[in-house]
Amino acid sequence: MTAFLWILFGYLCGSIPFSFIIARLKGIDITKVGSGNVGGTNVLRNAGAFYGVLSMILDLLKSFIPTYLALKYSGNIAYFVAFFSVIGHIYPIWLKFKGGKGVASTVGTYFALNPVLALIFYLLWLPLTLTTKYVSLASITTLSVIGLLSFIYSPKLGILNVLLALLSIYKHKSNIERLLNKTERKTDIVEIFKK
Ligand code: G3P
Repeated sequence: MTAFLWILFGYLCGSIPFSFIIARLKGIDITKVGSGNVGGTNVLRNAGAFYGVLSMILDLLKSFIPTYLALKYSGNIAYFVAFFSVIGHIYPIWLKFKGGKGVASTVGTYFALNPVLALIFYLLWLPLTLTTKYVSLASITTLSVIGLLSFIYSPKLGILNVLLALLSIYKHKSNIERLLNKTERKTDIVEIFKK
């Protein structure tokens, strides 16, 4: 497959708006509730643990699969496929280019390119989310740490993961504003799972 087709495949996989579809199964328009974000966190808060976790897993798989296949069959093009699968999630063709913030889809690319980074992601993200209850804060902090850590493995992985972190931070700009003026939504994962 040519580089262009791999990248298109990555973008189209990333574009599948799983969080939107899963919330719809519960009769919820995820763009109209909570933060309005088309992402697993917003589904978790508004549709509950099952739908939220399912959205997160599917959003992760849609970038993992094309990146993994590209790495296996075409080598370095996988780094571009990874980037464009996250672009697909953030700017999906099916939702008029209004997608999510790219956290789960970025983690999907970690699983494909360096699973150790995916493990480190959860070891940082989960305690940060549980203690602060701010998923946005945990997400942007962890993505930034992983971006810098990735240079230990290779410059190309470092560049990719710093770019993905910057993209996600940019998409979190309204969260950052709310964090600064103390109006950010809290997400109590333990309470959500008890329900
Ligand atoms: O994964 C996105 C998360 O970091 C923030 O989501 O809905 O609180 O804006 P939300």
